[in-house]
Amino acid sequence: MTMQHLLSIEDLDRAGIERIVEQAARFAEVSDREIKKVPALRGRMVLNLFYEASTRTRSSFELAAKRLSADVVNFAASGSSVEKGESLKDTVLTLSAHKPDAIVLRTPWAGAAELVSKWCSAAIVNAGDGKREHPTQALLDVYTLRSRLGELDGASIWIIGDVAHSRVARSNIIAFQRMGAKVTVAGPPTLIPRGIEALGCDVRFTLDELPSADVVYTLRMQRERMSETWVPSLREYASWYQVNGKRLSPRQVLMHPGPVNRGVELSGEVVDSPQAVITAQVEAGVVVRMAVLYELLAGASAPSTSPSSGRPEAAGAAIGERQPA
Ligand code: NCD
Repeated sequence: MTMQHLLSIEDLDRAGIERIVEQAARFAEVSDREIKKVPALRGRMVLNLFYEASTRTRSSFELAAKRLSADVVNFAASGSSVEKGESLKDTVLTLSAHKPDAIVLRTPWAGAAELVSKWCSAAIVNAGDGKREHPTQALLDVYTLRSRLGELDGASIWIIGDVAHSRVARSNIIAFQRMGAKVTVAGPPTLIPRGIEALGCDVRFTLDELPSADVVYTLRMQRERMSETWVPSLREYASWYQVNGKRLSPRQVLMHPGPVNRGVELSGEVVDSPQAVITAQVEAGVVVRMAVLYELLAGASAPSTSPSSGRPEAAGAAIGERQPA
């Protein structure tokens, strides 16, 4: 099975998620080399189209494309003709003249990735569409947890905080459950969307039962998406929901997608504790995004890389293992 786009984590069943994280594990070996490059996507072009701020996601997509030897064009809406009023559609059509093979898209608009996939022939990767989805974050979090815990079957994962404004929460609830974990979301009632149980998770409005969790996944308070007052104050939020040394037990794994508001959703001490895998999540971002770009672009129509091109064994084996579409 070959994917055409990665618009939603729902595009992937458990086998699909496993295929990508296993490919990512093979690419991890490349990242440990002195020369961190394989020729798998040589001659391919990846366009990073970012309408929203990003540190981790954008840098790791860029690095992922470069490690696969693709050409990369980075486009940030600020400083571009978007500021002169160019629409998303016109921007995509204009940049399509450069013939990108993949467009990595982050926007504040839910559903934008689907729209763009209809306007051009490139493979589209949703790198965050408003409050809706962030599928590659979910994949890198599955990868990180599998390297810590092994299989996720039966693991209890609590996702805590601003679920209402979080695309990470939505994608991760789906992905973790597909991998066999039991997901609980917790936070103040104003920040937990009504009906979220329909995704299959449990809901708690206090952290009283947090000790039962194997994994504590905290979310950033998304102040840029809050149009009204959702919590009385960040200080009050912290007093009820901050994950700190008193609430985190030594056997629990602590995650956060970044950027962290230290002193709000997490205390500084737990961010710097050995239980936190926040940096491992960022590292996983590169290899998982390599695997996603590879899966989307190294299909049957990819330019062939000859065995004499210095292709390293890990990626060579990976290429050899691909099933025809
Ligand atoms: C997240 C995002 O932008 O959705 N960050 C990320 O991609 N690592 C989460 C956030 O901004 O809080």
